[in-house]
Amino acid sequence: MISVCFKDSFDLEIKDIASDKSISHRCAIFSLLSDKSSVIKNFLRAEDTLSTLRIVKALGARVEDDGKVIKITPPNKIKEPSDILDCGNSGTAIRLLLGFLSARDGFFVLSGDKYLNSRPMKRVVNPLRSIGAKIYGRSDGEFAPLCVIGNDKLKSFKYDSKIASAQVKTAMILTAIRADKSSQYKEPTLSRDHSEKMLNVMGANIEIDGCELVIHPLTKYLKPLDIKVPNDPSSGFFFAVAAAITKNSQIRLKNMLLNKTRIEAYKVLAKMGAVVEFIKTDTKYEDIGDIIIKNAPLKGVEVSKNIAWLIDELPALSIAFAVANGKSRVKNAKELRVKESDRISTIVRNLKKCNIKVDEFEDGYEIEGGVFKSAKIDSYGDHRIAMSFAIAGLLAPMRIEDVDCINTSFPNFVTLLSKIAKVETK
Ligand code: S3P
Repeated sequence: MISVCFKDSFDLEIKDIASDKSISHRCAIFSLLSDKSSVIKNFLRAEDTLSTLRIVKALGARVEDDGKVIKITPPNKIKEPSDILDCGNSGTAIRLLLGFLSARDGFFVLSGDKYLNSRPMKRVVNPLRSIGAKIYGRSDGEFAPLCVIGNDKLKSFKYDSKIASAQVKTAMILTAIRADKSSQYKEPTLSRDHSEKMLNVMGANIEIDGCELVIHPLTKYLKPLDIKVPNDPSSGFFFAVAAAITKNSQIRLKNMLLNKTRIEAYKVLAKMGAVVEFIKTDTKYEDIGDIIIKNAPLKGVEVSKNIAWLIDELPALSIAFAVANGKSRVKNAKELRVKESDRISTIVRNLKKCNIKVDEFEDGYEIEGGVFKSAKIDSYGDHRIAMSFAIAGLLAPMRIEDVDCINTSFPNFVTLLSKIAKVETK
């Protein structure tokens, strides 16, 4: 449990926002596609990505970690593990690994915690089955534990996905690079594009044309990674909202990932009236730089486009909506219902406890800006709900129950929050 309340206005620079979760998962898994050691700096040491790292080790990789740099030496052949592969709370881990393992000879069982094992998996299982993957699980493979009987000879494909999901896309790419012929993948709108970009830097041949990919099979091992993972804009966004909603305050987030599919929520904050500046400093695997956010009066907005680009930030953005002048509306965001919690429902329920007027729809919600009342918040085991309402503690004292989940993505969140708020931990 944590209690959070207002301390003072602030002008702060933060260098140690958690490292990017999506890129850290990919670093661990993609290192298995090389025949040489990958060197990864600033890997996210949080529960989700450490689960992936443990799994990579169970698959035969040698992982050397001096506390700063992680070196992953891949095995000659993926090892069949003697135990289940525990993905913890991580949807990204299980879905990416389903793709990776479907195309490797062996028997694998993927499982997770009670939250992960109740999240839908058919979005990945069905396309994989359509190209010959053998995956078994409860409710015909909808829920983990999932058993994969891997097969080196999956078919190439032409797949037109109905959802914009980077997890589904990456799972399919990881089979396509091992098929005998080129494959085509299309999604309705562009989801985060780290996989295709990173794999191409490693030497893969993936033709990218907006939402359409042509994935050519690998003809040789990929080059190893030599990467410093940038800081995670989804984690930084909690502090962006904190600055936007706190009078006379500003924050500078250092070394952030600036990929356009990841910073849309900052642009929405700017549209609402906050002052937001991006300062690019590097462009190796991805654009990287600083983000400055300054408080200003906020007005309500409608968010209905590019939803995949701000899906993880909507819980925190909702706190800004709830103090903006006027109404804000989120549409076309049904995907929120299948995240770490049903986020439409958990955002709405918790905002109501804070005396904020909210209407719930199947694919979104409408929030009327108002005055927060002190409340006891249930995170429902969802890290982003816990952190979003901890930030709301700057508006009225909040007590957040069930906060261990914060460790899945942002272990130093409470330490950083203590710089701008009074925080008590029990
Ligand atoms: C992720 C993709 C997103 C996102 C998740 C991380 C990834 O999910 O919500 O937190 O790293 O690929 P979908 O793209 O499946 O919606």
